Amino acid sequence: MIELKDKVAIVTGGSRGIGRAVALALAKMGASLVVSARAYEKAEGVAEEARILGSEALAVKADVSDAHQVEGLVRSCLERFGRLDILVNNAGIAKDALILRMKDEDWNQVLDVNLKGAFYCIRAALKPMVKQRSGRIINIASVVGMIGNVGQANYVASKAGLVGLTKAAAREVATWRITVNAVAPGFITTDMTEALSEKVKQSILSQVPLQRFGSPEEVALVVCFLASDAAGYITGQVIHVNGGMWM
Ligand code: NAI
Repeated sequence: MIELKDKVAIVTGGSRGIGRAVALALAKMGASLVVSARAYEKAEGVAEEARILGSEALAVKADVSDAHQVEGLVRSCLERFGRLDILVNNAGIAKDALILRMKDEDWNQVLDVNLKGAFYCIRAALKPMVKQRSGRIINIASVVGMIGNVGQANYVASKAGLVGLTKAAAREVATWRITVNAVAPGFITTDMTEALSEKVKQSILSQVPLQRFGSPEEVALVVCFLASDAAGYITGQVIHVNGGMWM
């Protein structure tokens, strides 16, 4: 059983999907939580679910693509809990188009949220973690960051970049006993994948040896393991949760 009692975690994009599942799994394992999202009410809804599970939880509105809001997010965590042990960079968006038709703003928005947002969060979280001489940073990447995908050049580049950021940060902060890892989900049932057509879903399923989509909870449990003391000797790694879609 993974134990996260006395640990304090921030989960970005925690209002639904994988982020919500991660927040609730961390709560079940005893962590105190800051649930962050762009919409306060939705973050508060998940914070309330976490409180019912016995966690102390705070909801904070923050857009991760804005460095000032990210600084405010970490400040709110420190004001409430006095420390920060776990950062889960989960917030992410997709704006799909073929490269020939991709608009500058679609490229920029996806990179701003998925990659720059993670950088802003890591930079802000490192200040308390370095002082504490401990910490766990977990970035939610994607299988397509490893294998590519048609119509997702911006998203794939952001997720491949996130893997590079994970490894660079892992080397840079290891000396303070801070670990940085990525979890790369395959296709997981959330609002993001609900938007796909039945035809695309069937075509994806045909590439998954386990012949089903994953659940947000299956990703969340791997995040909890990486956040725990049990994973103290794992850093700079990408853990794949993809039903065998990519090996
Ligand atoms: P989702 O669309 O259901 O949830 C995304 C969350 O990020 C939402 O809470 C949303 O409000 C938040 N968010 C978006 N932009 C934000 C911003 N600028 N600032 C703060 N929060 C923001 O997506 P899902 O499926 O739960 O995905 C979560 C993460 O997992 C994303 O990084 C996604 O790229 C990644 N992922 C998802 C897969 C899937 O199959 N669902 C597969 C591989 C990776």
